[in-house]
Amino acid sequence: MSSPVRFALAGFGAWGRFHAQSIAGNPEAQLVAISAPSEESRQLARELYPQAEVFADSLDLIAQADFDILDIVTPSHTHREIALAAIQKGKHLLLEKPMALTLADCHAIVTAAKTQGVHLAVGHELRLSSQWGEIKNIIERGTIGQPQYVLVELSRKPYRSGAEGWRYDPVRVGSWVLEEPIHFFDLARWYLESSGNPMELQAYANSRDPQRPMLYDNFSAMFRYANGSYAVVSQTLAAFEHHQTVKVSGTRGALWAGWSGALDRTLEPTAFLKVFDGTTLENVQLTRQSGEVFELREEIAQCIAMVRHGTPPIANGHDGLWSAGLCLIAEDSIRENRPLPLDELCL
Ligand SMILES: NC(=O)c1ccc[n+]([C@@H]2O[C@H](COP(=O)([O-])OP(=O)(O)OC[C@H]3O[C@@H](n4cnc5c(N)ncnc54)[C@H](OP(=O)(O)O)[C@@H]3O)[C@@H](O)[C@H]2O)c1
Repeated sequence: MSSPVRFALAGFGAWGRFHAQSIAGNPEAQLVAISAPSEESRQLARELYPQAEVFADSLDLIAQADFDILDIVTPSHTHREIALAAIQKGKHLLLEKPMALTLADCHAIVTAAKTQGVHLAVGHELRLSSQWGEIKNIIERGTIGQPQYVLVELSRKPYRSGAEGWRYDPVRVGSWVLEEPIHFFDLARWYLESSGNPMELQAYANSRDPQRPMLYDNFSAMFRYANGSYAVVSQTLAAFEHHQTVKVSGTRGALWAGWSGALDRTLEPTAFLKVFDGTTLENVQLTRQSGEVFELREEIAQCIAMVRHGTPPIANGHDGLWSAGLCLIAEDSIRENRPLPLDELCL
């Protein structure tokens, strides 16, 4: 048996701790280093993972630790600097979404990874779900014909504030569209892959707090393709619990999936997937539980294959750039109150 893949983890906050669990829980992986600026998080990291070297600064971790892949789960405004430093050292990356806060920074990361010949996986783990991923398989099997309409919708309670409140600070979060609707842009674009690249997007949003009008509680966007297909991505944070819906209609049939939990990270969600092929309605039995905690384990397994065998990740830098780009153009569309072309994303 080959030796375990050595993971270093930058960020040990709410989501980083789930990454640590998923790495430590995989017998083919080893968590060798962790970075977090606060002594409180570092102390917890030492207690939970005594075999890992613990650093205050991610750049020191990159310079000093011996590892194969860096898993970046730090506040989004820090991604660019940490990712570029790791790439310069020739390290492979699992980079959480959003890749970065601007299109120029996303391009810089993708280009640097290509130049250095390192693998780059982006944290769109919903693609690995037994539910959201199965929808892609059903579409590819042709069960519903050519997909023409996709709706991805979420209604949930407000976001967590994040370490030192970064998620409620417009400068450090960049945009709330980059926080969660980014996953739905990624899924919708993936489901409509056979339509080519989307060409135009319009978005609307509002906030219930006049103190933070740019942090939207309600957000909806539509984007369309040259062949007439289109997608709707919609989210409200002004609701309760966590309820996600996907609907896809094709030229022959349609599908509808739903996921509900008291929280996004519940271990006991309810989920369903119904598929209509134009004649018969089927309730698809999910092979594994669906939910971001479960998909994260798949994501770590995928990174192990990527490091060992060069297996391409299910979401690469190009996908990460597209999803961040759709969010940023949605922001422009809200500000300018008009539909905008997506040409600059067509690489
Ligand atoms: N794919 C998904 O489904 C998903 C889900 C959630 C979050 N995310 C993404 O994951 C990232 C982290 O989110 P989160 O919810 O875990 O945030 P969080 O709870 O605020 O945790 C951030 C962590 O990063 C640490 N940190 C801050 N600056 C750092 C730096 N320069 N170097 C190393 N560590 C640093 C913080 O340190 P201290 O603890 O010491 O303060 C904290 O441990 C964000 O980009 C977010 O968008 C993705």
